[in-house]
Amino acid sequence: MNPFSRQVLCNGTALGSLLVLCAVLAAPGGLGAQPADNASPRERTLFDRDWRFAFGHATDPAMDFGFGTGYFSYFAKAGYGDGPAAEKFDDRSWRGINLPHDWAAEVGFSERGSASHGYKAVGRNFPESSVGWYRKSFQVPNSDLGRRIVIEFEGAFRDSQVWVNGFFLGRQPSGYASFCYDLTDYVNYGGENVIAVRVDATMEEGWFYEGAGIYRHVWLVKTAPLHVAPWGMYVTSAVDGDSADVTARTSVANEGTSEATFSIEQSIVDADGQTVATARTGKLSLAAGAAGEFPCTLRVGHPRLWSLEAPVLHKLLTTVLRQGVVADRITTPFGIRSIRFDPNNGFFLNGKRVELQGANVHQDSAGVGTALPDALQDFRISRLKEMGCNAYRCSHNPPTPELLDACDRLGMLVLDENRLMGTNAAQLDPLERMIRRDRNHPCVVLWSLGNEEWAIEGNIKGARIASTMQDFARRLDPTRRTTVANSGGWGGISTVIDVVGYNYIHQVHPDEQHAKFPNQPGVGTEETSTQCTRGIYLDDRQNAHLAPLQHGDSGGNCEEGWSFYAARPFLAGLFFWTGFDYRGEPTPFDWPAISSQFGLMDSCGFPKDSFFYLKSWWTDQPVLHLFPHWNWPGKEGHQVTVGCFSNYESVELRLNGRSVGRKDMPRNGHLEWSVVYEPGTLEAVGYRAGKPVETSRVETTGQATSLRLVPDRAHLASDGADAAVVRVEAVDEQGRVVPTAGNLVSFEVAGPGRIIGVGNGDPSSHEPDRYIDSVKSLGVRGWRGRIAPAGTAAPSEPDLLPPLSRLSNWKATLPRAGELYDLAARFEVEALPNDARFTLYLPSLGAKTSAWLNGHELARDIDTTLSGPSIILDPRQLVVGSNTIQLITVPLPDGRNHIPEVAQLGSVQYWRPAPQWQRSIFNGLAEVIVQATDDPGEIRLTARAAGLRPDTLALSSRPALP
Ligand code: GAL
Repeated sequence: MNPFSRQVLCNGTALGSLLVLCAVLAAPGGLGAQPADNASPRERTLFDRDWRFAFGHATDPAMDFGFGTGYFSYFAKAGYGDGPAAEKFDDRSWRGINLPHDWAAEVGFSERGSASHGYKAVGRNFPESSVGWYRKSFQVPNSDLGRRIVIEFEGAFRDSQVWVNGFFLGRQPSGYASFCYDLTDYVNYGGENVIAVRVDATMEEGWFYEGAGIYRHVWLVKTAPLHVAPWGMYVTSAVDGDSADVTARTSVANEGTSEATFSIEQSIVDADGQTVATARTGKLSLAAGAAGEFPCTLRVGHPRLWSLEAPVLHKLLTTVLRQGVVADRITTPFGIRSIRFDPNNGFFLNGKRVELQGANVHQDSAGVGTALPDALQDFRISRLKEMGCNAYRCSHNPPTPELLDACDRLGMLVLDENRLMGTNAAQLDPLERMIRRDRNHPCVVLWSLGNEEWAIEGNIKGARIASTMQDFARRLDPTRRTTVANSGGWGGISTVIDVVGYNYIHQVHPDEQHAKFPNQPGVGTEETSTQCTRGIYLDDRQNAHLAPLQHGDSGGNCEEGWSFYAARPFLAGLFFWTGFDYRGEPTPFDWPAISSQFGLMDSCGFPKDSFFYLKSWWTDQPVLHLFPHWNWPGKEGHQVTVGCFSNYESVELRLNGRSVGRKDMPRNGHLEWSVVYEPGTLEAVGYRAGKPVETSRVETTGQATSLRLVPDRAHLASDGADAAVVRVEAVDEQGRVVPTAGNLVSFEVAGPGRIIGVGNGDPSSHEPDRYIDSVKSLGVRGWRGRIAPAGTAAPSEPDLLPPLSRLSNWKATLPRAGELYDLAARFEVEALPNDARFTLYLPSLGAKTSAWLNGHELARDIDTTLSGPSIILDPRQLVVGSNTIQLITVPLPDGRNHIPEVAQLGSVQYWRPAPQWQRSIFNGLAEVIVQATDDPGEIRLTARAAGLRPDTLALSSRPALP
């Protein structure tokens, strides 16, 4: 085995660090410009487009396209991937998709589903919708011969197996680890290649919605044999007064056949594009098959530091040169900053104490499940920042790298979390990949090794496991500390961990732990934010809707949690559970509730009231937020509690112009008044230094009369991926959002855009998030056949033909010149809706083929020498139930035949167009996610609802800036 193959490196084999000297070049720019033709051989191409998808089956091999049933299957012989893993498998009847893709967001809800995963029809009870197959064909030119070719998956949920051209590449159990495979030796150079991926989401990893499928990006990476290893850059910075020492460690692999001598040039480019430091490490060599890590330190004078206020990114350009020719060049964005956790004073960024004002976040979002377009990461981080949140805990798994890119760019600290604790390869490999992949991100300030590991957190095994993992993490990244989120089991993990993580002050005791372990820093890894439903102020348990301020599964609420942490500067801050509602964990309900309600925002990112509590105390911006809404017909004369979240010194409440009273705002608190309800206007007047400064209003609205569409931005990049998040509002005659509206809205897009998801934040809504074409691949099964005498004109009835069970039977019965194949098989049709289309796909069975459906002639003597036919079936000739395909084929002139395995002899695609997109408004609001296509132009989104004036929104889509 080549120890430096990509697969091995991706799985994190540590490279030996070679001590070499690097010469820091005196003048910036001292490397000299590279000649234009000295371009890097490295290519990294997004591999998201033009995949085909179909459900396989977790328990029935026939429904799994015969996968794993070959006499010799892929574990027996190299290149023997069978079923869809086979190179020649015919996937034309499958659905065409682009990644990222989460099929759990597309299937329906079922009471038999897993409560923790939001009752989706995926998992143990749903073998028919828990295995997904993906296939993608691609060309590799002859000129790539000699390069290394690697496919990189950012994540697939879960238990993925990958083949290229029928060759098994590997298996990745975790749905959260990034992984890659080396394709180099398996590629058809100058020809067509196919990647096949089987993803099995039968088992769960977490206790929350996890999605299903290739829900993150895939990349194809090509390099020269001498190249920087995958995740092979490690950049650290030590800030020293007015300058910083930046150490670039470059892991180089020589996958060539002879020793390579080379040099490495490093240059640092600041945010303005100026080269601010350069260095060269010369006279390096690596034997064939060897790899090594080459460190080099560069000094940057007066660097602009990465901070929350100014998330300034630098770039490290690394060039590997072989005899003056560029062998590889790679750009690594990084930030210059210092971090420190202190047992008595919390967390420091660039020497300044920063309170971690954090939120836990799961990775799913309304409309798209876990398959977020990158733009949605920015949207969600921006929503959190608006609340004053400065820290994001990736609960409870490594995130997609694009999330970290967004946090780097927008200024958000990250607690990056490992999935499963343990000390064998199954646990340490994914941990290593997370650290190698993410350690250049300045946003990442702490590694979490695990969360609430009840079996070990309070005992000696936990202490041992945590110690081993912590040492392992430190070796990979000595610049960051580690934590484990603790739920109250003391004396185990907590005795050894760098930074103790406290989950919920009602079950952990930071003061006690701090008194016992005064040298151990601490952070609130989870704290309750109260469960409630956005826009709901009276419990409606029937519909699983909860009013705020009364609930909290874990006890307490935002105010309690924040007041506790704000009063303890020895703690680094806290992460509320959670930033957004997420699917699954519908505590305290079960079916038909499907979503959690812990969020400070709902699943669409619409704020709940407590968002404004935190904004009051987490930002300097004036906040004056009144609640509830003021539409309470029938409640006239009843007492209603009115609350106000604000950071003004005092607030006066007025109802229809009359003062209800002015109260001083307690620090980190809120205000309440009891008011006798009458329709009209509630006003809050915020006072500073005794003077009224701002007024905010909540008004009794009229009936909804119109729809209004409000996008998060007006422009999109026409790159086929960029997306805008559009708020859908039901408004009254005066343009006020009607907080009780629930109209059903339908959506249409014209121009170069498409809708990819809809949501409304209702935690018990069973409306679809996605409206997609319905595509099913119907297997044509039970093939029977014979070699028919020459001149046979009509096919035999299936029952008169002998069964064809195996390929070997075919080989034994090749027709001779003048003979014909006579074949028949059946497929099942469940229903025949008017708008359905059925297409028959047959392989190239012979030179000429004639086909019949249920006795009706489909085709006569069509040329199938080179490719198999596809025939659109006439629905009038189909029946609900069993349908018969009969064929007569003429062998190829040279006696060859293309007959593949029986399991792959044909399929029928059932296709139905997607229904119109629609979603109910929930408490005045809903959300639509619109994605750009590749064409520039105007995207027009129209929303319509019965009895309301429609609205049309124009978004401009234009080429992205280079
Ligand atoms: C915590 C756990 C979270 C979530 C939460 C729900 O104990 O760490 O993942 O399950 O409870 O209350």
